Amino acid sequence: MKDSYDIVIIGSGPGGYVAAIKAAKLGKRTAVIEKGDIGGTCLNRGCIPTKTLMHSTRFLTEIKLMEEAGLSFTGLNLDYNKLMVRKNEVVSRIRKGIEGLFKANGVTVYQGEAKIISKNKVRITSDDNVSDIEAENILIATGSVPVIPPIPGSDLEDVVTSDDLLDGDNRLYRKLLIIGGGVIGVEMATIYKELGCEVEIIEAMDRILSGMDKEISQSITMGLKRKGIIVHTGAKVTRIYEDSSNGLMCEYIEKDNVKVTNAEGILLSVGRRSNTEGLFGEDISPKMDGSCIKVDSNFETSVPGIYAIGDVIRGKQLAHAASAQGIAAVEIICGHIPSIDLDVIPSCIYTVPEVASVGMDEAEAKVMGYDIKVGKYPMLGNSKTLLSMGERGFIKIICEAKSGMLLGAQLLCDRATDMIGELALAISKKLTYKDLGSIIRPHPTYEEAITEAAEDIENMAIHIMPKRQI
Ligand code: NAI
Repeated sequence: MKDSYDIVIIGSGPGGYVAAIKAAKLGKRTAVIEKGDIGGTCLNRGCIPTKTLMHSTRFLTEIKLMEEAGLSFTGLNLDYNKLMVRKNEVVSRIRKGIEGLFKANGVTVYQGEAKIISKNKVRITSDDNVSDIEAENILIATGSVPVIPPIPGSDLEDVVTSDDLLDGDNRLYRKLLIIGGGVIGVEMATIYKELGCEVEIIEAMDRILSGMDKEISQSITMGLKRKGIIVHTGAKVTRIYEDSSNGLMCEYIEKDNVKVTNAEGILLSVGRRSNTEGLFGEDISPKMDGSCIKVDSNFETSVPGIYAIGDVIRGKQLAHAASAQGIAAVEIICGHIPSIDLDVIPSCIYTVPEVASVGMDEAEAKVMGYDIKVGKYPMLGNSKTLLSMGERGFIKIICEAKSGMLLGAQLLCDRATDMIGELALAISKKLTYKDLGSIIRPHPTYEEAITEAAEDIENMAIHIMPKRQI
């Protein structure tokens, strides 16, 4: 008899592995199929490696500030290989942790490539074997892969994606040109610059991080430029080619002028597309939404019993969104009501300072027809920021004018990514700015700025100069 499961999950990224453990905890016979390393993009080629490298480069930033703080260093050395070894160790420890959780929860893991043959059958092909397993329900969590733009020369050696950059041990290019000033582009620019490399960004839109609040995008641009990173916006890359004396060359059009720049390595970070290659057999073809798998509000595809979550469906491509959807989909399959508010998804960018945002920004709230009130607190008035030599930044909250209900928040400050959860909770639970200002926050902390931003709505923030009355 074939192996048979209540839920078979394809992909073990933050969507798939979390869903699998949840399903097992809810008493389902669960299997996960993975063709690569357990943990998917986030663990192996995404969030965890980048943030581990960033932790190391942050030391470099801080060491440079140390003299002002009364500590001086001589003979500072950067060992890139050691940085990569530590990154690999962190990834491996987390991967072992997930494997341990699978084992402890009774989740069966199949190593190989999955193909859905029918509504209840999945074929697994590995190096030495082909086998079929039965599934009552199938959950697709196959994630996304980098988009390779149709730019001539994109296939040249040292024109790489973030996958290559994070996998490779020898890719500390003296100059890195980044095509695409989105989240990956900006995070990689930050890491590379701190590692002492020359960095240049070419972005097609009129600003980098165009999906973010305008003020944040402007502040991050200024911060990158201050660090010596060259940023071109409204620029279209036309071709990449090799020059025997200058290395890789990139031709682009900026303000109607054809320009050329050179680099040792070029990073393509122009977005990611859903990963469905080879996933469906001849007899199974769920409806698609562009390149994404189409699902209903229960994450069920057009084929009953087959579900999809994470980057493979349309929506925010974020690890924590995939995990939340994975939990919700499993709860739905088990007949429960989803326990997580899937409408409130924080977004984070791990720059210096960090960016975190949740809900609507000012422009979005206005487009949605809200009459709004905005409270804002500049972090240079925040004691913790000053004592820890933090950079310029702010905390901004957007509220509905009449009810005071929180609609959104944007943070540009140290530890923004650790503080955004509080504001997500406030939006989800429909709290007002008065609720936000009604609790005691410890001193000195970055989060005191949330109180000040809430008080600023009525011009009552304590640590801010009164606004001039006209
Ligand atoms: P993205 O969609 O964030 O940014 C791509 C950028 O490339 C856009 O600004 C776009 O205008 C630009 N672009 C597209 N074609 C171009 C061209 N030919 N020339 C110049 N610019 C061009 O995509 P990205 O940065 O690749 O990230 C992929 C996904 O991964 C995103 O959804 C992102 O949210 C997610 N991610 C999230 C992270 C986090 O939460 N911290 C970290 C890394 C990725």
